[in-house]
Amino acid sequence: MRVIRIGILGFGTVGEGTYRMLVDNADEVFAKTAARFEVKRVGVRDLTKPRSISQDLITDDLKSIVTDPEIDVVLELMGGEEPANKMVQLALENGKHVVTANKELIAKHGSRLINFAKDSGLDLHFEAAVGGGIPVVQPLKHQLAGNDVIKIMGILNGTTNYILTQMEEQGADFADALAEAQVKGYAEADPTADVDGFDTMYKISILAAISFGKQIPLEKVHREGIRSVSAADMHYAKHFGYKIKLLGICEETGEGEVLVRVHPTLVPLEHQIARVSGVYNALWLHGDFVGDLMFSGRGAGADPTASAVVGDLIDVARNVVAGGNGSAIPYGEGMQVAKMGDLETRYYVRFEVADRPGTLGEIATAFSRRQVGLAQMEMITKTGGLGEIAFMTHVCRESDFGTAIQEVARLGSVSKLEGWFRVEE
Ligand SMILES: NC(=O)c1ccc[n+]([C@@H]2O[C@H](COP(=O)([O-])OP(=O)(O)OC[C@H]3O[C@@H](n4cnc5c(N)ncnc54)[C@H](OP(=O)(O)O)[C@@H]3O)[C@@H](O)[C@H]2O)c1
Repeated sequence: MRVIRIGILGFGTVGEGTYRMLVDNADEVFAKTAARFEVKRVGVRDLTKPRSISQDLITDDLKSIVTDPEIDVVLELMGGEEPANKMVQLALENGKHVVTANKELIAKHGSRLINFAKDSGLDLHFEAAVGGGIPVVQPLKHQLAGNDVIKIMGILNGTTNYILTQMEEQGADFADALAEAQVKGYAEADPTADVDGFDTMYKISILAAISFGKQIPLEKVHREGIRSVSAADMHYAKHFGYKIKLLGICEETGEGEVLVRVHPTLVPLEHQIARVSGVYNALWLHGDFVGDLMFSGRGAGADPTASAVVGDLIDVARNVVAGGNGSAIPYGEGMQVAKMGDLETRYYVRFEVADRPGTLGEIATAFSRRQVGLAQMEMITKTGGLGEIAFMTHVCRESDFGTAIQEVARLGSVSKLEGWFRVEE
């Protein structure tokens, strides 16, 4: 019987969940790999914290784990860019296979690390980095690899989906919904990574890199979070037949060129992705042969994420037992990323206006000067001679739409541009 020795870097939510799954499901894992896993060492930052495992396993010397000649596989479950990047590189240099759940690491350094692993005949897997327990990375790398993937859209962050669901169902404003998510443990005390779209940006960039074969330069990804979404926008979106979701979207815009973006998006109520609520995640894609496909499930949490980490570990173990080389599918650098100004889609926009005859005509004329056609409209009267007016446009270029709303905002009959979002059909 082959014994595979593991070093774990990080024993927080995911590290502890993975350890528990390896112990609880040892027989299932053995039946599928003909190997036994033995956790030899666990690296943490704070040696004084109480742990659910023997203190003999614990160390704060991460280097001693990744260079230990007896360790076959390193699980990097710490998160963040450093020291994860250095430790994964060092583990590979020392001949260890690596499984990581770290989206930031793979989004920033995936190309280099995967190529290094491939050249060294080692495995580097990262299923848990995108979608937690939902298998999306392996299907894109394997079963769907023969497709020309034309578009991917995902709800890839449970915290923001929970907040938006609360806003939609209870009419709550962003600040109240965020505070509630923090009390319930769905949002961090510092929610920046989630609500400002960084987490979704890392995940959609990884999916784009796998699908389109090159690492995405993160500085070229358009990123907006959900702080600008209000209860009023939720209300109008519903009136027009949409929900507002934070989506990561990547699509082919030309030969060797993609557009990768993260922003709140109006999604038609009848689209499968609009029905994904609360902390659930979903990934929808369209491939030329497979057609439309959707995966959904729990995108975070100890158990679902452990499921993805252990799945990757089983893949490694099968290779080790079979004496095979690394099956990493490398991708190159330098993907061409299209500009947002060239995007063509529909838009939702809301203004505060003077509630008097002629206002609507002035606005419609200003939009049409920039080739922006209006498809739907809703207007309400507020107090003090003011009104609120929301539009859905026809498909137009983002650069034209951007110019048009600035010109509308300067009209005498318009007191404020309240907000605008892109629409996906
Ligand atoms: N939580 C989820 O639901 C989830 C889902 C999918 C993917 N992930 C990814 O999984 C990874 C781990 O997330 P988590 O939620 O488990 O994090 P966590 O609960 O904060 O645990 C992090 C662990 O790593 C250790 N650590 C952090 N920095 C370290 C350093 N510089 N040196 C040594 N040890 C260090 C911590 O040590 P101490 O215990 O001593 O503090 C802790 O044990 C991240 O990449 C995250 O993005 C998480």
